[in-house]
Amino acid sequence: MLSPSLATVSYIGATILFILSLGGLSHPESSRRGNLYGMIGMTIAVLATVFGPRVTMAGLPWIIAAMLVGGSVGLYAAKKVQMTQMPELVALMHSLVGLAAALVGFANYIDPAAAHGLSSAEKSIHEMEIYIGILIGAVTFSGSIIAFGKLSGKIGGKPLLLPGRHWLNLLGLLVVIVFGWQFLHAESVSAGMIGLTVMTVIALLFGIHMVMAIGGADMPVVVSMLNSYSGWAASATGFMLNNDLLIVTGALVGSSGAILSYIMCRAMNRQFLSVIAGGFGTSGGTPAPAAGGEQPPGEVVAVSAAETAELLREAKNVIIVPGYGMAVAQAQHTVYEITQLLREKGVNVRFGIHPVAGRMPGHMNVLLAEARVPYDIVMEMDELNEDFPDTDVAMVIGANDIVNPAAQDDPNSPIAGMPVLEVWKAKTSIVMKRSMASGYAGVDNPLFYKENNRMLFGDAKKMLDEVFVALKA
Ligand code: TAP
Repeated sequence: MLSPSLATVSYIGATILFILSLGGLSHPESSRRGNLYGMIGMTIAVLATVFGPRVTMAGLPWIIAAMLVGGSVGLYAAKKVQMTQMPELVALMHSLVGLAAALVGFANYIDPAAAHGLSSAEKSIHEMEIYIGILIGAVTFSGSIIAFGKLSGKIGGKPLLLPGRHWLNLLGLLVVIVFGWQFLHAESVSAGMIGLTVMTVIALLFGIHMVMAIGGADMPVVVSMLNSYSGWAASATGFMLNNDLLIVTGALVGSSGAILSYIMCRAMNRQFLSVIAGGFGTSGGTPAPAAGGEQPPGEVVAVSAAETAELLREAKNVIIVPGYGMAVAQAQHTVYEITQLLREKGVNVRFGIHPVAGRMPGHMNVLLAEARVPYDIVMEMDELNEDFPDTDVAMVIGANDIVNPAAQDDPNSPIAGMPVLEVWKAKTSIVMKRSMASGYAGVDNPLFYKENNRMLFGDAKKMLDEVFVALKA
């Protein structure tokens, strides 16, 4: 068993490694190193806790048994999950953090040893930590379960807008405050349980209501917001358990999740508060034109793989814009083979990455890195948008919302104001997808009807294989 000072030193070491990990994860080239730091930090943190001074010998077998069960479930889930299902898995994991925070809160309140020897002021602070910890934990738990349901398609993506929903939320908040007061002034644990239970039920309902009101297109922000909540819930648990490492780690997760939510909101030109207020976006995959809407002017012109290869062969500058469909089709390796071939022929090929392309932050970067596409030709949207007018071919692979000109041209579009990759400014744009179906936001895309646009219909991997063969011929 570790001495208290050795445990503290291990905690400090783990904290430093977590900070280095976050630093590493901020760039594709250093992200592997960042992951490694995180894994080493977490191993040190777990070992220092399990073999630390606060765990008794009698408790050890229980902890190890729980770790074996949890670890096996985690290992199985991580092995089985498809890359495209990652956001759902992340949402499910957040729900467990929330549930753990809420359960630790209840256990801490019931445990007579937890408040033993505290002065009356300290006891009030301790109870406030419990109340707030359970509140955040319960909202995170139920909100994440709904987010999981929406992302996995088990619950529809359409926002649920109850009449007077903001008033309902306000009423819930008032009840939580009133019962918080009752809880802090309760004479006994059983009396305090009334306030705690009422608040937990309201927090669970609020979590459900909050995420149900948010439409499909805003789900990425919600997932990263819940990520942030799960961090604060862990931090609150750290306060309850007097565990410094949990406080710091929770704060790191909480603040990085908040920063990510902010970056995503900016990428989608949405106000964070309006995302949380909900009501935006519908379920994806509806056939175009969107229900009740008019078909955009112009004609859809389909091309074959051979014609696409011909256009690419004649091009000097090519920008490839990957989206969710490339991930579904697992077409990244063929994309790279085509890129290599074109580069050998002297074509300037670059990739344009939208901050919310795919279904999770950095989704496209991960896939392209897996296919060994060099980092220096993978550009962010802002670095590249000005270059489309000088581009011969913009090849859109399984992307839709992120290249939708309606975001700029139609103030009534649900995605109005979202920054997009301006592929239609290239001499020719080629969109590769299976049908005319809409993307995640469920809106029609006028790009498909533009004069200089061509549609290459089919599964992205299959079509790209055909393009590759035609290019080599
Ligand atoms: P989407 O707008 O969802 O469009 C993807 C397109 O890929 C679909 O229209 C689909 O059309 C096509 N597709 C699907 N499977 C395909 C296959 N096997 N082969 C070829 N095409 C295929 O994706 P996007 O442009 O990447 O935009 C991302 C959207 O997701 C945004 O609305 C964003 O807000 C949202 N979102 C993002 C995240 C993050 S953090 N990145 C998380 C959740 C949601 P067909 O069905 O016709 O093939």
